[in-house]
Parts: sequence; structure tokens; C-alpha cells
Amino acid sequence: MLDHLTSLQTTALAELASIGKDAVASDDALETWRVAHLGKKSAIQSVFDRMKNLTKEERPLIGKAANETRQALQAAYDEKATALKEAALQRALQTDRLDVTLPGRPLAVGGLHPVTQTMRRIFAIFAEMGFQVYRSRDVETDEYNFQLLNFPPNHPAREMQDSFYVQADTDRGDNPILLRTHTSPGQIHAMREYSGYTGEGTPPLNPPPVRIILPGMCYRFEQITTRSNIQFTQVEGLAVGKNITLGDLKGTLSDFARRMFGQQVRTRFRASHFPFTEPSAEMDVECFVCGGEGCNVCKRTGWLEILGSGMVHPVVLQNGGYDPTIYSGFAFGMGPERITMLRHKIEDIRYFWANDLRFLEQF
Ligand code: PHE
Repeated sequence: MLDHLTSLQTTALAELASIGKDAVASDDALETWRVAHLGKKSAIQSVFDRMKNLTKEERPLIGKAANETRQALQAAYDEKATALKEAALQRALQTDRLDVTLPGRPLAVGGLHPVTQTMRRIFAIFAEMGFQVYRSRDVETDEYNFQLLNFPPNHPAREMQDSFYVQADTDRGDNPILLRTHTSPGQIHAMREYSGYTGEGTPPLNPPPVRIILPGMCYRFEQITTRSNIQFTQVEGLAVGKNITLGDLKGTLSDFARRMFGQQVRTRFRASHFPFTEPSAEMDVECFVCGGEGCNVCKRTGWLEILGSGMVHPVVLQNGGYDPTIYSGFAFGMGPERITMLRHKIEDIRYFWANDLRFLEQF
């Protein structure tokens, strides 16, 4: 019996010693070993089970020896388990090594779109003159985009080819829904909000003055070329109050041009036509590339067209809730893409909304 215990111990320990060569399998192998050599069906356990068959003299002797064997096996097992755990940890430290002193990966910082940059300059200049930003919707009705702005019924700008109509609106008769073709419908929305006029009944007395700019995206169903796109931004301006004259319009816009393009820049106004202003004018600034001598950018004219403007038409004032016999005002609309193109000598308007980072990252 004692010999049996010794040989049992020797085999078991030898088996245990061989565990651990193969990293992946060793946990399983150790458990298999534990079941085989320390479990309920192990050889050592069967020695304990057979104790009762032994004589009184043998029993303490064998019992002691068996206990020692079992303790030896358990101790060897514990030691092995600890060693395997340690080895696994060392392996993990080796393979998943992390160098916390390495510099971090820099976050890619975004930038403002060149048109946004131009718009913010425009906002800042008009803010100093007391103009607030008024946001107006991109999706409009024919009524606001055209009718209330005094477009005659068959004005060319109302035709299908100039506008994106929203397809679902089939039953709206002469008031279909479309994407705004300019920011001017915001004039009506703003005046009505300021005056409280709903378009019906008598206009309110003493509506407050208006001094706003209306920025936003506009959409036209147009041939896409280097100079025109189907979507572009505009910044509209509107001032309504008592005793506002063409002189105010010229002064405000000339001052804007000087602040935007430089104090020495000269401006000129040319007569023009818009249904919602009377009289109407387009403003040119002296070409800041050639200083007025004539170059490619200004097409040898020495002047760059910057915006459309005019005194708010009486019908438009009325539609906004402002009595044209008491109130007057001026309005203007400019294209930030165009201004950005001039400033940076960009030759193709399509770059702006093509979302090509090679272009955008230059600003
Ligand atoms: N809405 C006009 C356009 O899109 C610009 C404009 C605005 C002209 C305000 C006069 C007054 O061309």
C-alpha cells in the first residue's frame, strides 16, 4: 500500500510537470489532471475509500501516508495553477504591450466652409450697423416666393424651368410648393411677423421698424456651369421704417463695400429691375484685383457686380403690413459664393457644394 502511494504520487507529479508547455491547452490540462488525481474517482481517493478494510495497526500508518500524498498533490497543484496564471499574465504583457508614453493621435479639427466664413463677415458688418439675422424657410409657397413680391402672373422667373417644385403638391392650384429661388420671401415673413399682419383685414397701426439680414440657401432649376449652380446662398437685407430713402440704401451699401473690400474701394450703382423694388439698382465695386484698370476677373471692365437692391415696392410693403404712404424701405440681395470667388479668385462656382476636401481645406 505504501509503495502504491509512492508510485501514485510519482506518476501524478510527473504528469503535472509536463503541463504548461503549450499555453492554450494548459488550463484544460490542469483541470483534467485535478479531476484525475484529486477528484472523487482518483487513485488517492480510492485509498481513503479502502481504509475501512485495513487492520487497526495498518490504518494510522497508511492514513498518515495517504494524507501526506494528498497534501503533496494538492500543494503541487496549487503551485502549478499559480505558475500558469503568472505565465499567462506575462504572455499578455508581452503581446498586448501598450506604450503609454507614445504621443496620442491628433484629432482632425474641422474648419468653416469658405462661404460660411464670408457669410460671417457679412453678418458682422451688418451687425455693427444694427441689422439682426432673421432666419426664413427654404421650402416656400408660390405665394411668398413670387406673388406677394409683386411678380406679375406670367413673369419668366415663375416658370417651371426656374424653380424646383415639390412633387407631392398636386392640388394647390396656383400656389404650389417650391424651393425658394431667392431669400426675398423672407422679407414678407419678417414684415408680417414684425407688424402682426396676417394678410387679411386691415393692416395694424404703428408697426415697428425692420432692420434685418436674411441669409440662406436658394435653389434654381438651372443649367450648371462655372458661374451658376442649382443651389447657392444669398444674404438678403431689409430696412423698413419712416423716412428711409435711396440715400440710406446707397450709404449703407457703400459703407458695407468699404468694410468688406477695403476703405478705398469705390462703388457704383446701375439702374436695374426687380418686381419687388422700385427703383432698382445693381451695385458694382471697383475691381480689387486690378484696381479698376481692367483684368480677367472683372472682364476688363474695372468693375465687379456684387448685389441687387432697390427701394421696397409699395405693393410689397403693403403685403407685409406696412402702409406705403407712411413707411418706406430698402432691400438688397447678394451672393456669398460670388463674393468668395472674387476674393479668392476661384474660377468655378461648382467647387463650393461639391464637398471635395482638396478644395475646402484650402480655406
Ligand atoms: N432677390 C433678388 C435676386 O435673387 C435680389 C434682390 C434682393 C434684389 C432684394 C433687390 C432687392 O436676384
